Amino acid sequence: MAHTRPYYAQGGLSAAYYDLLTSLDPTVAADIDVYADLAAPGADLLELGAGSGRLTFALAERGFSVTGVDIAPAMLDLARARLATVDATVAARITLKLGDLTALHLGRTFDAVFCPFHTLAHVPAGQAWRNAFATTAKHLRPGGLAAFHLPSLDVMAALPPVNPTIAVLDQATPDGGRLQLFVRDRTFRPTQGRLDQVIEYRATDLRGATRISAERLVFYMTQPDPFAAAAGLVADRPPAPMGEAGAIHIFRKT
Ligand SMILES: C[S@@+](CC[C@H](N)C(=O)[O-])C[C@H]1O[C@@H](n2cnc3c(N)ncnc32)[C@H](O)[C@@H]1O
Repeated sequence: MAHTRPYYAQGGLSAAYYDLLTSLDPTVAADIDVYADLAAPGADLLELGAGSGRLTFALAERGFSVTGVDIAPAMLDLARARLATVDATVAARITLKLGDLTALHLGRTFDAVFCPFHTLAHVPAGQAWRNAFATTAKHLRPGGLAAFHLPSLDVMAALPPVNPTIAVLDQATPDGGRLQLFVRDRTFRPTQGRLDQVIEYRATDLRGATRISAERLVFYMTQPDPFAAAAGLVADRPPAPMGEAGAIHIFRKT
């Protein structure tokens, strides 16, 4: 197999095509209302794993001030490019920062903190989750809400074996080219609650030139409540199903 890079790495195609792929599934945007309900209109929100800004910008357009933090420069570059395309009053409500959600020190608190679209599942469910919940609690005002969208362990465990030769997506791209995705490898380790997948992106342009990027996408899943409790966060309500593969867990800082 060709060299495999981490998902969202610089020069990879998962970052380059993130916005296109998320726009193909209209159910993805259902999470905007959930995060908008976490705090009063105009409140200060912190997004952990903001990526290219799908939610950061949507929430800023609704009047929230949003600080978006992400570890991947390739994703933040997309968000920064987007800043130049939006209304100045919306742009003024957005702060983008390079940072690690397991080791963040912004020196201030927010009305709500959210970690969307399975982002926490990208870090190992042990000390890194303890640090992530401690980071969250540290940046949350007393009484504020924290939300984590996490995949379901059952759904991860039940994924079928892959056929690496069949494209799981074959899509025309806005520039007149074509994007194909193949799942080249998938391994689920039940004792670790860990799913590894190697996704190969093949992007072919109008002239027939093809770029290939094989990227490793890892998810870890366990129950978040004990990690939240250790950080002083208590469950605020039952988890709300979101998408086919997960739920949003909402906690309150005591
Ligand atoms: C599925 S994307 C979500 C992007 C955006 N929030 C959305 O919902 O469309 C996951 C993002 O989490 C980021 N990420 C992964 N691990 C991280 C970490 N330890 N600290 C900060 N960001 C992280 C990735 O770089 C990626 O941009």
